Parts: sequence; C-alpha cells; structure tokens
Amino acid sequence: MKITVVGTGYVGLVSGTCFAETGIDVTCVDIDKKKVDMLLNGEVPIYEPGLDALLARNLEKGRITFTTSLAKGIKDSDAVFIAVGTPPDEDGSADLKYVLGVAREIGRHMEDYKVIITKSTVPVGTSFKVKAAVQEELAKRKVDIPFDVASNPEFLKEGSAIDDFLKPDRIVVGVESERAEKTLKRLYKPFLMNGHPLLFMDIFSSEMTKYAANSMLATKISFMNDIANLCELVGANVDLVRKGIGSDARIGNKFIYPGTGYGGSCFPKDVQALVRTADEYGHSLDVLKAVESVNYRQKSKLVEKIKAHFGENLKGKQFGIWGLAFKPKTDDMREAPSLVIIEQLLAMGAQVRVYDPVAMEEAKHTLKDTVVYAKDEYDACIEVDAMLLVTEWSEFRMPNFRILDKLMNNKLIFDGRNVYDPEEMKDLEYTYYSIGRET
Ligand code: UGA
Repeated sequence: MKITVVGTGYVGLVSGTCFAETGIDVTCVDIDKKKVDMLLNGEVPIYEPGLDALLARNLEKGRITFTTSLAKGIKDSDAVFIAVGTPPDEDGSADLKYVLGVAREIGRHMEDYKVIITKSTVPVGTSFKVKAAVQEELAKRKVDIPFDVASNPEFLKEGSAIDDFLKPDRIVVGVESERAEKTLKRLYKPFLMNGHPLLFMDIFSSEMTKYAANSMLATKISFMNDIANLCELVGANVDLVRKGIGSDARIGNKFIYPGTGYGGSCFPKDVQALVRTADEYGHSLDVLKAVESVNYRQKSKLVEKIKAHFGENLKGKQFGIWGLAFKPKTDDMREAPSLVIIEQLLAMGAQVRVYDPVAMEEAKHTLKDTVVYAKDEYDACIEVDAMLLVTEWSEFRMPNFRILDKLMNNKLIFDGRNVYDPEEMKDLEYTYYSIGRET
C-alpha cells in the first residue's frame, strides 16, 4: 500500500512517520524546499519527543520520502491525506485556502482512483468543498477519474504525539463510500491492537467530532479555572476539589487542572472557529463564548496577584519567568500564557528574565530583546523580586530552594501551575501564591 501526506507540519509529519512505521510506503509532500531537504536528511524541524528517531529509522528502511512535487507524490498512491495548515483569518474562522489549493492540485494531477482524506482541522462541510474542488479540476481536464473524500480528524497532543498516534484512544473517520471505508480500515488496522475503536460515521459528524472534542476539553479547563478563582475567595483548595470531583468517572480526572489558561495552536483557534460556525447558522454557542472569555481573563491571573502584592507600578522590579512554551515537552509558543504575562509585566515597567528548557530559540522570535534570556532556571532568578512559574516542566518540580534563596531579592513565588506544596513553601519561609489555593 502507498499513501501520500500533503503538508509536513506537526500533524502531517507525525502521521506520515507513524504510518511508515507500519511498513507501508509513505510520500510526504511540502512546498517548502528547505524543509523537504532537511527532512530527507533526517532533520526534524519541530520539537517532538521520539520523532527524530522514528523518522531516521523509516528513512533508512526507505519507507518514507519527501518531495516538493505533489504530482510525483500522489503517483500510485491509494490514499492522499491533506494535512496543511488552516490558520484563523481575521474573524476567527478557519482559512481554507491551503486545503482547497491542495485539493485543486490533486485534481490537476491524479491519474487513478484515490481516497482524499482531510486531516487538517476544518469546519463542518469542508470535505465536500474538497470534493467540489477536485471535481472542478477533473472537469477542466475532461477526464472522469473516480475518487472519494473522507474526513479523519487528528487527536494528537504536542509532546506525546507519537504515542497518541500509535496507540490512539479512538480513530474517527467520516466516509461516504464502502471503497473508502475499506481502504481506511486497512490503513488503520495496525493501530488498533489496543482494542480501541475505529469509528466510521458520516462526514459531517466526523468533522464536528474534532471541534466538539477540543471544545469540551477547553470547557473543562475554563470551568476549573473559574472554580479555582472562586475557591480562593471562599477559602477552599482547588486541588482537593479537583480530586474530589475527578474520581467520579462521569467527570474524570484529566484536563481539570487549573492554571494560567489554555494556549497552543488548537484550543484557542478551534473554540473560536466553532463559535463562528454556530453564529453563521444563527445559533449562539453561549457556553463556548464563556469558555473563551474565562480563558482570556485567566491569562492575567498571575499578574493580578503581582499587582495585589506590589501595586500597579513595577518600575525597578525584576521578575524571573520559568517556562515559556504553552505547555511542557514542546517549544511551541503559540497563544502561550507566558506571552500575555510578559507583555503585562513589561507594560507596568518591570524587567523580565526568562528561561525555558526548549523554547528559548522560539521565544527570541517573538520577544526579541525585550527580556533577558537566562541560561537556566537559577540564572533566571538572579536578583529578581519574584519568580513566576508559568509552564510546568518536570525539571521545575524540585528546585534547590537554598540556591534560589541566595539569588532572589525576595523569597516570593507566583506559581501558575500549582506545582509546589503550600505547606512546604511555608516551612521554607517563602511567600507563595498559586491558583485556587489559600496562600
Ligand atoms: C489539543 C488536544 O488535547 C488534542 O487532542 C488535539 O489533537 C490537539 O489539541 C489538536 O487539535 O491538534 P495540544 O494543543 O497539543 O492538544 O495540547 P493540550 O495538552 O491539550 O493542552 C492545551 C492547553 O490546555 C495547554 O495550554 C495546557 O496547559 C492547558 N491545560 C491542559 C490546562 O490548563 N489544564 C489541564 O488540565 C489540561
């Protein structure tokens, strides 16, 4: 079997490499020549644990290759996955120009039957736009080549994408023909060894599933952030409340950790896009609108606590930030709470020292020379008035507080991820603020 994956971004590259791991032939197509050359050399342009080793192995076995030519890439392949970006346009809806551009190019070059599968996160109805775009090109060529479209949303998490792909909780596929269903069943069989389901459904439901899943997860987070804020006011401890509710299987103990708000390239964009879609249909998704506004507020939570402690004017004060990426195990800083926090601190006249185990290079693109880039977490605390823990990298869990004591001007920590134990911090004589717990 041979497949083609168009787009070697996060989803495309992980999917292509994991498919190759099952023994099939994979060709990945990308318009970016530099990226294609890098990948052919086994260099992975993103940070994702385990991906470079997996890619190297499959390159060596000749099961995966990269090209800039879509015409070459789709030759003889049974299935073509579209995994190009869908950035939000100004009004928050997903911009489909790349997805439909690829669809048209497939239509211009295909010679035989293919299942054309949309893997990018796209609004409900997009697969049919893909179908129309391919049909239009075939009509221009005056050829009648059979093809099917399908929708196959991705549920990968950055930082554990390989595991998520190889051992999925479920695989969702929207199809409209038996032929397409048969091809996708064959392709995904090797990933079902853990007994988890491969769910076939209609295309609309499959496309909707992706948005509903991310929106539900974002809702859990915003709900917990709101509860955490109330916990602070009434004197409850959100960690205990979290455990108290999470052991109810109907609620579940995942994605109910309060913090500094959700970030990343998915939740903010997808929540916004679903709200948009609903508005277009004259339906107001009020729950999701609240999810968004709670998240917006939550990103300022640590700075509010800083203001309550120091007052509005932070001139002459310096802060050390631990963690810049939107979550651990990634260098991705898209919509990261750290960016909002840093911007607010700088606006109030403070100086900022930052450290992240992997996102330092990424940070420099955005933050430029507005902050001091520290060489490690201790360096980020030299002569600071407080440390802010923003991303919960595991290496921040057990710092040497004796060293920190000596470096910092004050023994003061604002913990946006509830990593430390308030009792322990009291014993260490730190003034300690966290989220949703008494200080
Ligand atoms: C998310 C989904 O979890 C994936 O299933 C989905 O495939 C992906 O989006 C996508 O649509 O491509 P990802 O954005 O990589 O994955 O990151 P998550 O691990 O979901 O975290 C998102 C944000 O929520 C992070 O900022 C994280 O810190 C925050 N979060 C997560 C919390 O604040 N509390 C929690 O309990 C969990």
